[in-house]
Amino acid sequence: MLHAQHNCENDQTDVLIIGSGAAGLALALRLAPHIQITVLSKAQLDAGSTSWAQGGIAAALSGAEDIEQHIQDTISAGVDLPDPAVVRTVTESGPEQIAWLESFQMPFSRSGEPDHSLHLTQEGGHSQRRVAHAADHTGRSLMETLMAAVKARSNIRILEHHIAVDLITARRLGATQDCCLGAYVLDVKSDCVRTITSRFTALASGGAAKAYLFTTNPDGTTGDGIAMGWRAGCRVANMEFIQFHPTCLFEPRAKSFLISEAVRGEGGVLLRPDGTRFMPEHHEKAELAPRDIVARAIDAEIKRLGIDCVYLDISFKGKAFIEKHFPMIHKRCLEFGYDMTREPLPVVPAAHYTCGGLMVDLDGQTDIPQLFAIGETAHTGLHGANRLASNSLLECLVFAQRAAAKIEAQLERPQPAIPEAAFIPPWDESRVTDPDEAVVVTHNWDELRRSMWSYVGIVRTTKRLNRAQHRIDLLRREIQEYYSHFRISSDLIELRNLVEISDLIVRSALTRQESRGLHYIRDFPYTNPRARHFNTVLTPPPARPYQSAGEQVDKKALF
Ligand code: FAD
Ligand code: SIN
Repeated sequence: MLHAQHNCENDQTDVLIIGSGAAGLALALRLAPHIQITVLSKAQLDAGSTSWAQGGIAAALSGAEDIEQHIQDTISAGVDLPDPAVVRTVTESGPEQIAWLESFQMPFSRSGEPDHSLHLTQEGGHSQRRVAHAADHTGRSLMETLMAAVKARSNIRILEHHIAVDLITARRLGATQDCCLGAYVLDVKSDCVRTITSRFTALASGGAAKAYLFTTNPDGTTGDGIAMGWRAGCRVANMEFIQFHPTCLFEPRAKSFLISEAVRGEGGVLLRPDGTRFMPEHHEKAELAPRDIVARAIDAEIKRLGIDCVYLDISFKGKAFIEKHFPMIHKRCLEFGYDMTREPLPVVPAAHYTCGGLMVDLDGQTDIPQLFAIGETAHTGLHGANRLASNSLLECLVFAQRAAAKIEAQLERPQPAIPEAAFIPPWDESRVTDPDEAVVVTHNWDELRRSMWSYVGIVRTTKRLNRAQHRIDLLRREIQEYYSHFRISSDLIELRNLVEISDLIVRSALTRQESRGLHYIRDFPYTNPRARHFNTVLTPPPARPYQSAGEQVDKKALF
């Protein structure tokens, strides 16, 4: 049946922010109150990874020496690939970001000392205690803090359950000079597509770890922002560096619940089933080695011994200590029958963080004028081949502040008017029908994530990557075909993005012919010192133009 779908009301705004995690909300708050801002979340406001963050926010709070050490730790965890200028900018800004959050009453944990200073925890790859946190629910507290501040600002409009489908760009409208003009957005509850035009658009839509079967991330981390930016004409970099967190609770009912690295930071040790430690055999820093090394060591032990999981033990610290430092983890584990105050927890690695993303400069500017990317969506150059623990939230905050300053400076200059939505081709679904077989989406979703897990995981080979590429090519064609025939839904939008992301990950992994950080490939087991400045940059094909402004557009021909 042909379904002629109505378009819902169009919208205009000064700044459209696609994503409401730490990056998106911090950007909204950093922009001046006279600027009209619209923030989208494809689900509820706190649906992103930020809410799930545990360990904390890395910040060198004890002076210049600490900043130099934070720089060294970041570059060393990133295996020499991080951009030193970016690392310096971000680390130097750490204390200011923490102070900014405190100005909103962020409830950081405090030490018991008389000065009541911030309690700093320790995580892998950090040479000293440097991670500010709110017990083990830093992300939840951070989101509550930012959401309260955003809701108090009348210039910030929040649209929950609105999923951006694609960016609207001048080039796609036939102009020779490109810029971003807004986005097509599916209002999930009303099931209609809005055209939102804006002077500036910021992609703050998080990472893409959902490309893998087992992940620590919430459901929506399907790389939408990276895929939208790529389709619109932005380059991506270093997509092969997918970080696997070493310690997820091995419990199917828990859907990959993270056991924070801070548990190891506070003394936790990793054990084989027979109770022996193994990390000292793998790295001099043992359990506090950088994450890629710990995840690979666990993977090696699991494969060598033919076991399902290893164990993380902190029970020897006692009940009072554990309840004070890890109240949320302790409670959640108890729900599944594990008491970490009395016994080791079963743990396995899972996909956790996307180090690569849309290429941006030091202000979060992408390749397309008026389009910014911040947070996990962006590749800033901070993380290199492996992100240092708790550097992500810091990066979200720093780049939100810098992007806000850049947008404000540009807004002060004479601006072309925001194009009336009426001049943008409306989203046209007149030639598509209601989906007839939803099972195609669920089946492809599952097959894609399973292939990524099996062939593009912690240890890679060229043969396995080629196998993955072959499957992705087939799935891609099938998903494109499905997309061009049927009305869009959140699931279909996400699946289309996920297959694009998987393709980018595999192509990047095949391009890097060395092992470095998170990319370990058996055919090239060594790190090539000459590749220390080599970023895997992929350039998209030219974005297809719209037929012409104002004309009805065939979605199939467009995307
Ligand atoms: P997110 O917080 O993921 O937000 C993405 C937003 O984009 C959401 O609002 C989502 O609804 C929206 N969105 C996505 N696609 C669309 C679309 N198409 N249309 C509209 N909206 C869209 N990092 C640290 O530094 N310290 C930690 O302790 C830490 N712990 C972590 C623990 C866990 C379990 C996880 C999963 C991650 C952790 N990280 C940590 C990483 C860190 O939390 C994330 O990298 C960071 O929160 C990403 O923030 P973000 O704003 O970029 O994206
Ligand atoms: C954790 O608490 O282990 C996660 C920290 C991070 O991903 O930075």
